[in-house]
Amino acid sequence: MNVAVLLLLGLGLLEAEGRCFFNRTQEHCVCYSLSQESLSSIIQCLPASVVEFRGGELERYVAFPISDLDPSAIEMLGSLVIRKIIFGDLLVPEILLARVLRFFSYTHVQELVFESCIFEGRGNWAEMAGQDLPILSLYFHNVTSAPLTGREENFSSLSSWLETLQELAVTASHVTSLPCGIGRVFRALHSLDMARNSLGDESLMPAFCKGAFPQLQVLSLQRNNLTSYHSVCKSVQLLRELQHLDLSQNKLMADPSSSCQWPVALRIFNLSGTGLDEVLTPLPPSLEVLDMSCNHLHAVDISLSSLKKLFLSQNMLQAAPSIRNCPMLDTLHLDNNSITELPWDEVKLLGRLWDVAAAGNPYNCSCSGAGGVQALAGLVHLGQGWPQDYRCHSPPHYQGRLVKDVLVSALQCNSAAVIVPVCVALTLLGVAGAIYLVRSRPRLVRPCLRV
Ligand SMILES: *[C@@H]1O[C@H](CO)[C@@H](O)[C@H](O)[C@H]1NC(C)=O
Ligand SMILES: *[C@@H]1O[C@H](CO)[C@@H](O)[C@H](O)[C@H]1NC(C)=O
Ligand SMILES: *[C@@H]1O[C@H](CO)[C@@H](O)[C@H](O)[C@H]1NC(C)=O
Ligand SMILES: *[C@@H]1O[C@H](CO)[C@@H](O)[C@H](O)[C@H]1NC(C)=O
Ligand SMILES: *[C@@H]1O[C@H](CO)[C@@H](O)[C@H](O)[C@H]1NC(C)=O
Ligand SMILES: *[C@@H]1O[C@H](CO)[C@@H](O)[C@H](O)[C@H]1NC(C)=O
Ligand SMILES: *[C@@H]1O[C@H](CO)[C@@H](O)[C@H](O)[C@H]1NC(C)=O
Repeated sequence: MNVAVLLLLGLGLLEAEGRCFFNRTQEHCVCYSLSQESLSSIIQCLPASVVEFRGGELERYVAFPISDLDPSAIEMLGSLVIRKIIFGDLLVPEILLARVLRFFSYTHVQELVFESCIFEGRGNWAEMAGQDLPILSLYFHNVTSAPLTGREENFSSLSSWLETLQELAVTASHVTSLPCGIGRVFRALHSLDMARNSLGDESLMPAFCKGAFPQLQVLSLQRNNLTSYHSVCKSVQLLRELQHLDLSQNKLMADPSSSCQWPVALRIFNLSGTGLDEVLTPLPPSLEVLDMSCNHLHAVDISLSSLKKLFLSQNMLQAAPSIRNCPMLDTLHLDNNSITELPWDEVKLLGRLWDVAAAGNPYNCSCSGAGGVQALAGLVHLGQGWPQDYRCHSPPHYQGRLVKDVLVSALQCNSAAVIVPVCVALTLLGVAGAIYLVRSRPRLVRPCLRV
């Protein structure tokens, strides 16, 4: 039998019709509101590596006696291949969870997911004291529970497990604060995803207090209630190992000259959709990836010596940014801006750049414009949008035409490059003609003179 069967038997979740569906290619098994009659259906989930339980109500089993397991059951749990268990659309009494969680210590389950669950009441976690669990990743999405503030003491019984946890996500769950003490428990955590909550500027400072999340490398604060760039910088300053910070979809404001220094390890920074109309400063100095797409930027001028990827799609740029001060750049995305020409000669200078996307811009195809984009297409990878999404906007007779289809005749276009040599050639011809005349004239004249 599988750990889930045991859990469900233990919990007495034996009502309503339901059954399990196993997808062999995906090694994924989904069970909908299991009942006692359909429980045999769960046997087919045994070879699955992912088991999902959807629907049901655990509330009425709070008082159900849960005894210890005998050695054969423990051995059987140890032989299961299940790596991930998902609980969805369930009402979970916290007290029940606290009682069954220790059974996971006999399994190899590494990921535990709760989606659209409601945690009810407060559990007594004392039985978990000193207990290790194999679970390394814990995800909560769209869950509600009693507030965490003031319960640090109670959760401290979970600390021998939580201090080994590597990934934690609590998303779309209306979280407004993270008490300082909670972060201090997660000593090995390297990824924390708090996307789509209601964290504000003032709740960040305590969340990342001294000693909290000392190993954290990846932090997502996407779509929260953050407004101050400076205050976010101050709050994460103590996260020495932080490499990847996602602040996308917050409405950030430029603070009058901020003096805060970002963690030096920060390499990936996401400021997409943050309402920016100028580049905020200071930027983390060792950035390799910077996403400032979906903002209102009119101009960008940055110099970051290790920057490799720069995303600026969906802005209001009138011109491609100068990339001379980003010598390591290999990727530059400029789709959906107001750029009329691409500086392909600069690209030639910067040999590393190979991935450029600049579809959806109003190209000026009068002359050098179309030629420049066509030349660029020969030098770099212009993305999936080439050629169908690269269109001329001006001059009027080219409007709507594909840039690729514009015939770029050398004479028409590069007046300086073509007209000058032509003039020089003509001048030389003229000079040659004159010299010929001068040289030949004596011959013509000589006979006359001789005569
Ligand atoms: C199993 O999942 C794969 C990939 O999603 C899908 O193509 C296939 O149809 C599924 N098989 C069954 C029996 O549902
Ligand atoms: C979130 O969870 C609640 C139950 O707690 C559910 O009613 C709702 O449909 C879920 N929302 C989404 C977007 O999944
Ligand atoms: C939580 O901790 C407090 C203080 O340590 C204790 O009095 C209380 O009984 C605990 N509650 C539960 C549900 O464990
Ligand atoms: C977001 O922050 C603003 C001010 O900082 C506050 O007025 C508002 O209530 C907050 N919204 C949420 C959902 O927390
Ligand atoms: C930045 O965040 C947005 C979502 O807000 C996402 O679509 C995008 O892929 C992220 N950029 C990077 C470089 O990860
Ligand atoms: C550019 O805009 C078009 C049309 O609004 C949209 O379909 C496309 O996804 C956008 N591309 C990018 C990279 O933002
Ligand atoms: C397009 O480029 C030509 C030649 O460089 C210039 O004369 C013209 O003003 C430009 N048109 C627009 C709309 O920028």
